Amino acid sequence: MNTLLKAPPIKLPADYESEAKKKKPSIDRRRFMNYAGWLGVLGAMNVALLGFLRFMFPRVLFEPPTEFKAGDPAGYAVGVVDTRYVNSERCWIIREQDGFYALSAICTHLGCTPKYLASEDKFKCPCHGSGFWRSGINFEGPAPRPLERHKIVLAEDGQLLIDKSKVFRHEKGEWGNPGSFLFL
Ligand code: FES
Repeated sequence: MNTLLKAPPIKLPADYESEAKKKKPSIDRRRFMNYAGWLGVLGAMNVALLGFLRFMFPRVLFEPPTEFKAGDPAGYAVGVVDTRYVNSERCWIIREQDGFYALSAICTHLGCTPKYLASEDKFKCPCHGSGFWRSGINFEGPAPRPLERHKIVLAEDGQLLIDKSKVFRHEKGEWGNPGSFLFL
């Protein structure tokens, strides 16, 4: 009876164990997958953190101020092209009998800085030879239009105040606009 119930021993193939080992993921592989998972999570957190920082500290472009004070009007002689702000502000300040105008020192050809030639009372561009009268009107060379004028007013403290963000163009008929000339 007992011998009938006794199951015959199962015969396993000789390479059964090594096959089973192959199919079972090794501990190193599991660990690797674990690390990869954590790296993924950390990467996602870093991206989120960077996004948050960008939101909190947006990129700001600091531009130099466009306005500058040019001192007391009494410090300017009539009929003289004042060059003291050419290097720092690229601007000439010219006093005529009845007032002031501020002329941009940027050539209207390709943007070089012309020089004021007092002996000829004109501006001459060193790059391609454009010439401008003291008014800013172009008369020679490749410059296609006159120099631009900047807004000039009197500040509350009595100094000349020039705003370079505001330009007046002769060819557009803007030299008669308020701010293009400061009458005294
Ligand atoms: Fe002044 Fe060309 S940039 S003439």
